[in-house]
Amino acid sequence: MLYRLILRRLLFFLPPESAHHLALSLCAKGWTERLLRRLFPPLPSGLERTVWGLRFPSPLGLAAGFDKNGIALGAWEALGFGFCEIGTVTPAPQGPNPPPRLRRLPRSEALWNRLGFPSEGAERVARRLARRRTEGRWPRFPVGINVGKSRQTELDRAAEDYARAFSLLRAYGDFFVLNLSSPNTPGLRSLQQETHLRSVLAAVAAANPPPAKPVLVKIAPDLEEKALGRILEVLLSSRCDGLVATNTLPTPDRGGVMGGLSGKPLTQRSTEVIRFLVRESGGRLPIIAAGGIFDGADAREKLDAGASLLEAYTGFVFRGAGFARDIERDLLGTVP
Ligand SMILES: Cc1cc2nc3c(=O)[nH]c(=O)nc-3n(C[C@H](O)[C@H](O)[C@H](O)COP(=O)(O)O)c2cc1C
Repeated sequence: MLYRLILRRLLFFLPPESAHHLALSLCAKGWTERLLRRLFPPLPSGLERTVWGLRFPSPLGLAAGFDKNGIALGAWEALGFGFCEIGTVTPAPQGPNPPPRLRRLPRSEALWNRLGFPSEGAERVARRLARRRTEGRWPRFPVGINVGKSRQTELDRAAEDYARAFSLLRAYGDFFVLNLSSPNTPGLRSLQQETHLRSVLAAVAAANPPPAKPVLVKIAPDLEEKALGRILEVLLSSRCDGLVATNTLPTPDRGGVMGGLSGKPLTQRSTEVIRFLVRESGGRLPIIAAGGIFDGADAREKLDAGASLLEAYTGFVFRGAGFARDIERDLLGTVP
């Protein structure tokens, strides 16, 4: 309530990227983390689940893209998320795309972005995570790390990029997500095609000796069933532990610039993709659902569609600090 009445108005008064940087840098402060822990009660019990042998205190996590460089892990835990996925981290540091990069569409409860993987690079992120661990500030929930290729890397060399980012960060992630579906890095989405997909998965598998870390693939929301079916065939016959469904929907803004749409307009489409994947895979690959989760009903629908875990970005931006707790409270009332 406080967020919606005051903080959201203040943040939404700022341009979206400035609001994001302000909120994120506040969340990265030690005192904010301590304050949030005091303000928000501990997670309720009854929502825990185990996937890939990892214990998730709640099925709802923070989606990739919010904390790209892993600077505020403790805040996500304090806000009641059951896990977080940091990234996309690229092997080398790179800046964002030129503007326009991020727009709010409040009436549709959506965001449009074409950020294009701004990243401090895998080495720097790994050093930050190592420091957090040695200082004893590591969160108790699972941390996922989403990796991507650098903007200038040719598609034929993309597998090396994924393997390099993965190797540098392997020690710090509980699970990894290969982002092959962002609409904002030219050509990236074609890595979902069979030949590329196999080579990316093979390169990462070669860098993932036992005890192997779970590796997931993040897919786009606008693939036809035939293409989804082919991806599933590859994933089921390769070393792959699950899917994140879905990324943002490729959409032009009013000026015709291509970017990715997230939030409410994605809710139904992403649920349809999840239903199809669960049905066709016979439930053999755990799925993290992402796309337009705003409340307990959206979360319940994704779980009923067969998702093992949930992630949100846009809902968190629109609903604010109490977002995870509100959804968890709703979910607890509907645990089957
Ligand atoms: C501003 C913004 C930046 C994002 N950056 C990334 C990213 O770096 N890597 C990624 O895999 N997904 C990224 N995403 C996609 C989200 O992780 C998520 O898949 C998508 O937004 C759908 O969920 P939502 O409707 O809850 O936002 C981004 C989304 C937004 C809105």
